[in-house]
Amino acid sequence: MPYGLGLSYREARAGCVRRREIILLSAVLASVGMSAASFASAPGARQEAPAAEGRQTLSLDQGWRFHLGEVAEGEKPQTADADWRALDVPHDFSIEGPSGADPATMEGPFDKKSPGGTGAGALNGGIGWYRKAFTLPEGAKGKRVWVRFDGVYMDSDVWLNGAHLGKHPYGYTGFQYDLTPNLRPGNNVLAVRVNVQQPCSRWYSGAGIYRHVWLTIAEPVHVAAWGTYVVTPKVADAVADVRMRTLVQNEGAETVKATLTTAIVDADGKKIAGHETAEQIPAGGSHEFDQTLKVPKPRRWSTEDPYLYQVVSEVRVGGRLVDRYETPLGIRTIEFTADNGFLLNGKRLQIKGVNNHHDLGCLGAAVHRRGIERQLEILKAMGCNAVRTSHNPPAPELLDLCDRMGMVVMDEAFDEWIIPKSRMKYGYGRFFDEWSERDLVSMIHRDRNHPCVILWSIGNEIKEQAAAQGGAMASRLADICHREDPTRPVSSGVNKMGPATANGFVKALDVLGMNYFTGEYANQRGKLLVAAETSSALSTRGQYGLELKPDGKVGINTRANNQCVSYDLDHPGWGCTAENSLLAVGSAPWVAGEFVWTGFDYIGEPTPYGWPSRSSYFGIIDLAGFPKDRYYLYQSQWTDKPVIHLLPHWNWKGLEGKEIPVWCFTNAESVELFVNGKSLGSRDFKGSKSLHLEWKAPYEPGVLKAVGKKGVQTIIDEVRTAVEPARLIVRPDRKQIASDGEDLSYVEVRVVDKDGNLCPNADNQIAFGIEGPGAIAGVDNGDPTNHEPFKATTRKAFHGLCLAVIRAARTPGEIRLSATAQHLQSQPVAITTVSPVAGR
Ligand code: GAL
Repeated sequence: MPYGLGLSYREARAGCVRRREIILLSAVLASVGMSAASFASAPGARQEAPAAEGRQTLSLDQGWRFHLGEVAEGEKPQTADADWRALDVPHDFSIEGPSGADPATMEGPFDKKSPGGTGAGALNGGIGWYRKAFTLPEGAKGKRVWVRFDGVYMDSDVWLNGAHLGKHPYGYTGFQYDLTPNLRPGNNVLAVRVNVQQPCSRWYSGAGIYRHVWLTIAEPVHVAAWGTYVVTPKVADAVADVRMRTLVQNEGAETVKATLTTAIVDADGKKIAGHETAEQIPAGGSHEFDQTLKVPKPRRWSTEDPYLYQVVSEVRVGGRLVDRYETPLGIRTIEFTADNGFLLNGKRLQIKGVNNHHDLGCLGAAVHRRGIERQLEILKAMGCNAVRTSHNPPAPELLDLCDRMGMVVMDEAFDEWIIPKSRMKYGYGRFFDEWSERDLVSMIHRDRNHPCVILWSIGNEIKEQAAAQGGAMASRLADICHREDPTRPVSSGVNKMGPATANGFVKALDVLGMNYFTGEYANQRGKLLVAAETSSALSTRGQYGLELKPDGKVGINTRANNQCVSYDLDHPGWGCTAENSLLAVGSAPWVAGEFVWTGFDYIGEPTPYGWPSRSSYFGIIDLAGFPKDRYYLYQSQWTDKPVIHLLPHWNWKGLEGKEIPVWCFTNAESVELFVNGKSLGSRDFKGSKSLHLEWKAPYEPGVLKAVGKKGVQTIIDEVRTAVEPARLIVRPDRKQIASDGEDLSYVEVRVVDKDGNLCPNADNQIAFGIEGPGAIAGVDNGDPTNHEPFKATTRKAFHGLCLAVIRAARTPGEIRLSATAQHLQSQPVAITTVSPVAGR
């Protein structure tokens, strides 16, 4: 099971600092010379980076007030907000099913008449107001203070104490404001208005302050925001040159002589290189220091060994340390070649990637680091080594995790330039002219120090591919990328090859991202190529569509009752089966590899259906994070570990004696199939182009068993007929989590019979009970048509499985979770929450 593997991945990395931003409150307080009591007036204190003299980055996530809907003078500090809802961010109000819609068209949080349609998950946007009152710590006097939002969806306005700080339309780029001129001693009120008009997105966007918020307090002389840029112009076995540019700002009243000391430390914290430079910086000015350091015998960052150094920048004025800033460093080389695809550290790395949208299933768009980490663990266990952040800049946590876990990333800016897609009246096109350069630069400055990022994408299936001005627009954006980061190539997902070639769009790209149309792999040979989107295979976990046909034979009905089937058979017109895209990419070694559409199901875009469907069928893994059968196809092709996986399930009452199509995804050389001990013969891949083995097996209840030979190994999978549901098995993916108010345990519930066999048709209503320092953050079952709320304590099972996501509170202790259904009980399970530092 991938979960087990996920767990062992974590165990393997035990000892590494997983959430470097979380430091005990006492450490923060000590660093600013305060007591816990004096800081209590600034709720939400948490440090982003290790405590540094001169700079604190504190979390502003806790203690917000929220109001759904317009508020007159919501920005004015005196406007009463005591009756607004108290909550912490990241928060997504869309997933909660905002009011304002006609109750007659609502089912759970889903709205049949949502202006975003099912494409946006049938979940509504709207206007939302957030306010946070805070008092600055004493130590902040005379310092610069700014607020950073990692992402607010969308079209936000921010005020401090009634003064408008700015507007930020794009929901996916981070931004910050200098609070210093408008701060008051005592209470300050930060107000944020978000404005989500629909339709604005082709998939579920979420709504609200859905990423983290940070307050930075720094000395007037400091490293600028996203002000470091580290590159490795020369990498050899003996030594690597590390060039570090550091922008230092002087926001003080006098010219200063600032000394920048840059050190490179290895993963054990040992300093291995250093450099010091001093410079006069005038008041109100800045200086970009440019230093080159040498790392002897560099340990390369790779997908197998994602080794990270840190660059530590210390700024001193008059000998006093005024700022300390850390930048991750991975020493690696990347190259795209026309004949051998992508090279990491000079060696071909086939990109075995997936596209993913940003939502985290039942948690909606609200960022949860552990939610992203779990997704990456499940993908990595499948053999996936790459993610395309379709079709927008990701949460910073994703890149941080990809750096640490060894996944390469195609970092994408836009899904739309000026010409709107389909009916996206309120999409990004409204802002493109004024904001595209700023948003692109902001993405690159934030992300260019991550070794995981190997490609910038300036857009996906941009309509201007087929417009006269498309080539010039693509060149403008590509030039911005080259200017801000000449070390990475620029790409784009192209699906209109003819027009995009004619207007110069394709020419503007360094690496041509090809969406679908596997024939292009040969047509475009000679260029630098990556298959940016492939397959779009459609499936529902646990659904097989087996039906008795009029001729008395069993057939597969690929689309019925708003579900797809888990055999790899179905795809929209532009796509192909997973198997065919694997074959096409496999036979085109000049292509760098593929990004499958998609790794995980996501909310919205339920092609080929509309209402009542509200989430996608494209995922290799369902919305709850349960792998569909296709997961094992990729695992058999993308890993060397022994894989043998049978489908369908073996509960076909009414089809006794009929021939059932049985498939096996495997990397065994040959497999013999048995029904209740009777052999149905061996199959192998000799002379076949297929990536799976197939039998017709007469159905009789019992055991379907596959025995494979992989070298000298025998590998086995078996599926047993289940009788009635007898009990629930409750399995947390982690039994110990951090008591930090954010960490999650994903708890799978299986409906099983008396012998522990999964009941593949079970749809029992499961009720969760929870006690102790934790709460249920969401529930799901992976059914794209289910209209129960995600924020609930009960959910139906779907094909025998159900999920509850448990979030730790901020006090250590023991969470006890139980799951029950009518006539079904589980053993309660305990999840221990421990202090973040103790938990490391
Ligand atoms: C692509 C598009 C994706 C998604 C996919 C579904 O053309 O780029 O965003 O819509 O189709 O198959």
